[in-house]
Amino acid sequence: MPAIFPRWTNKIPLALGVVTPLVGAFLIFAVWYWWSPLYTDVGYRPKQPVEYSHALHAGDMGIDCRYCHNTVESAPHAAVPPTQTCMNCHSQVQTESPRLALVRTSFETGEAIPWVRVHMLPDYAFFDHRPHVAAGVGCATCHGRVDNMVVVEQAQPMSMGWCLDCHRNPEPNLRPLDQVTNMDWDDSPEKAAYDFKKDPERKRMPSPPVHCSGCHR
Ligand code: HEC
Ligand code: HEC
Ligand code: HEC
Ligand code: HEC
Ligand code: HEC
Repeated sequence: MPAIFPRWTNKIPLALGVVTPLVGAFLIFAVWYWWSPLYTDVGYRPKQPVEYSHALHAGDMGIDCRYCHNTVESAPHAAVPPTQTCMNCHSQVQTESPRLALVRTSFETGEAIPWVRVHMLPDYAFFDHRPHVAAGVGCATCHGRVDNMVVVEQAQPMSMGWCLDCHRNPEPNLRPLDQVTNMDWDDSPEKAAYDFKKDPERKRMPSPPVHCSGCHR
């Protein structure tokens, strides 16, 4: 009996068996690398329980970021300030303002203000503010012009591709260590003149991890 299909077609199931999982794996990779978070989280701006404005406090009044986020240099997380920090001023300023009612209640009861998190990496990704601040990466590089934000919103994708883009070539994002909270650095004439290799404050050249276990521990 003559064969209906030529002999080589016997290999098709085998070939499909090998190729299909590869294509599948590639599609999964493509989705998370190019697609998923890169374009979705930017602009996330949850409503906060108190109408606290960075544009007023950090921008117009020029309060340094570390006055409130005082753990960025000493802990992985850049803790949001306790109500006490607000009351340092608001026990004297705007003491009757209805917009500060929740702040006063929180201070009296000791119950924290339920601020809504804006940035949130998944648990399997490890991030620590300390090495970044110590290497001279500015807050504005990752969080944008917070000093212009009335309500904080996410400015950068915070995706793996975004982390790696900088880790592979951090140099353009390094500034003098005392300029980390300066929101104007990227537009300043000093930036063009700055050569981090000649900065006497730097003890060593930064080498951010690009291997998987650097961020997935
Ligand atoms: C007077 C206190 C104060 C100062 C000064 C301040 N912040 Fe904040 N920051 C807060 C509070 C309160 C929140 C939480 C509410 C909110 O998101 O608006 C916050 C939230 C944030 C968030 C979002 C955190 C999250 O939930 O993911 C970022 C980013 C941030 N601040 C960056 C900065 C930067 C950068 C500066 C300096 C330019 C700065 N802050 C100055 C009080 C302050
Ligand atoms: C290299 C990028 C980068 C730099 C530089 C950076 N941050 Fe962040 N920040 C992040 C990421 C990523 C998160 C989310 C962390 C998480 O979910 O675990 C975050 C979260 C925060 C939060 C929310 C609380 C927390 O730690 O999860 C605050 C507040 C904050 N950053 C403030 C600052 C301030 C102020 C500076 C400058 C002194 C700064 N950040 C510099 C990337 C950065
Ligand atoms: C260094 C002092 C200082 C600190 C610290 C501070 N504020 Fe203020 N805040 C002010 C001043 C000054 C004003 C503006 C008063 C005005 O314009 O009349 C203000 C205005 C406000 C207003 C607007 C009130 C209104 O009715 O217009 C809110 C809301 C507010 N602050 C919340 C906060 C919160 C929440 C914190 C803590 C995370 C905080 N502030 C920390 C000094 C401070
Ligand atoms: C704008 C540049 C930049 C971005 C964006 C950035 N990093 Fe980094 N990262 C650095 C630099 C610079 C260092 C310091 C390397 C050193 O000191 O040798 C570093 C160090 C680290 C380290 C090493 C910490 C240690 O203790 O060994 C980890 C982990 C890390 N980054 C995770 C992340 C993650 C996760 C993201 C994204 C959410 C991210 N980084 C985004 C520049 C960046
Ligand atoms: C510089 C830090 C960094 C390095 C190095 C890194 N990752 Fe990631 N990775 C992240 C962050 C941050 C996320 C979470 C991204 C998000 O939430 O959008 C992530 C997410 C992932 C995810 C989940 C994707 C999804 O669908 O959400 C996988 C899988 C992954 N990484 C694998 C790897 C592998 C494999 C390597 C080594 C080749 C690696 N990562 C190296 C930071 C890193």
